[in-house]
Amino acid sequence: MKIQIINGPNLNLLGVREKSIYGDASFETYLETLRARFANISIDYYQSNIEGEIINKLHEIGFGYDGIVMNAGAYTHTSIAIADAIAAINTPVIEVHISNVHKREEFRHKSMIAANCKGVIAGFGMDSYRLALEHFIL
Ligand code: DQA
Repeated sequence: MKIQIINGPNLNLLGVREKSIYGDASFETYLETLRARFANISIDYYQSNIEGEIINKLHEIGFGYDGIVMNAGAYTHTSIAIADAIAAINTPVIEVHISNVHKREEFRHKSMIAANCKGVIAGFGMDSYRLALEHFIL
């Protein structure tokens, strides 16, 4: 089983940025715990701050992997191009958010990509990624 995690803009700064919202662990540290916990599956990780690079990654892996867990960051709320890329590929995508976007500013309540995703998980901190992974594994 091959799973890809994709993190979008500003998520390279997890552990540094707005710790009261996103926590104090870096994604690299959290990824180690995920890989240890799910040692029998291959978990690839990609982060980019650039919309087109995220789209290129979706095209590259979207016909061969079993699942994609994606936190598109603020592109969630703006990107028709990422929504179209998700619709174009075969691999199912789960949208994840660390924070509960529905408890926050109104502009975070709308997702451009959710309708093209298999499901959405938001508000469980870093554990949102594990919950999404569990779906593909079980
Ligand atoms: C986020 C929520 C987005 O609104 C925000 O732009 C992010 C992170 C989250 O994981 O909670 O960058 O996707």
